[in-house]
Amino acid sequence: MSRQQLVIIGNGMAPGRMLEHLFEAQGDFDVTIFNAEPRVNVSLSLTELDWRFIGTIDDIPRQAARCVENDETKIAVFRTADDRIFALEDKCPHKNGPLSQGIVHGGCVTCPRHNWVISLETGTAQGAAEGRTAAFPVRLDGRDIYLQLHPGA
Ligand code: FES
Repeated sequence: MSRQQLVIIGNGMAPGRMLEHLFEAQGDFDVTIFNAEPRVNVSLSLTELDWRFIGTIDDIPRQAARCVENDETKIAVFRTADDRIFALEDKCPHKNGPLSQGIVHGGCVTCPRHNWVISLETGTAQGAAEGRTAAFPVRLDGRDIYLQLHPGA
């Protein structure tokens, strides 16, 4: 999805209130707010605001995962042996096995149910298996982990 420019010019709402409304419109926007009060002029990206702090890398043992719940969706956040972080829906594309309980090796996780190997980066089944689980954007800022609660493309 291409980024869209959204400009709001002093409509009387406080910026925080405007952003609450904008959060409901999911998408990749650049938002610029020109308010009547000069000190509250801001330029920001909704995509940037969508990152949620979920804990630190030290909360997840190497080659393991911890889960984050978002409404009906359980998201497994994995830490590899070399301290990379990935996030997948905790549902194997084969028969919904709990990937968070699988074995992490390299950039993949092996499902504990029937040993399908799933790419941590894309959620795609490897080898002859076919299927894909949702992958979520996740990033490290120092040791802090930030997650987006909407799957990536
Ligand atoms: S449920 Fe994961 S391999 Fe079957």
